[in-house]
Amino acid sequence: MKTLNKKNIIGILVASVGILLFLSISGCFVSEKVAAKGGAQLWAENCQRCHNMPSPSTFSPDQWETVGLHMQTRAQLTTPERDKIVEFLKQ
Ligand code: HEC
Repeated sequence: MKTLNKKNIIGILVASVGILLFLSISGCFVSEKVAAKGGAQLWAENCQRCHNMPSPSTFSPDQWETVGLHMQTRAQLTTPERDKIVEFLKQ
């Protein structure tokens, strides 16, 4: 076992700790940002910039799916944000 000397092992450890740290931090940022806001809040913040806020009763659940896809590109929402808004509007 000459291939794994101390330097190699330390290098691998440092690299994997770095990767784990990066993954956990970036994972937290994304989920915290999205988790902090509910569908109703995201809807209020994002869906009245360009037109009046559409009321949840305006469309059927199926129609909201389509609107969600369309307005996700317009409002530049992430997919989790869009899902929350659509979930809210379907109720
Ligand atoms: C960047 C501007 C912009 C944002 C932000 C935006 N919309 Fe729109 N929306 C439009 C435009 C422009 C139209 C009409 C043309 C079209 O359908 O592309 C429209 C049309 C609609 C319609 C169809 C209205 C009708 O009577 O047919 C619905 C419903 C709608 N938007 C919902 C939403 C929801 C929900 C959000 C939030 C996720 C949102 N919009 C965010 C620009 C925007």
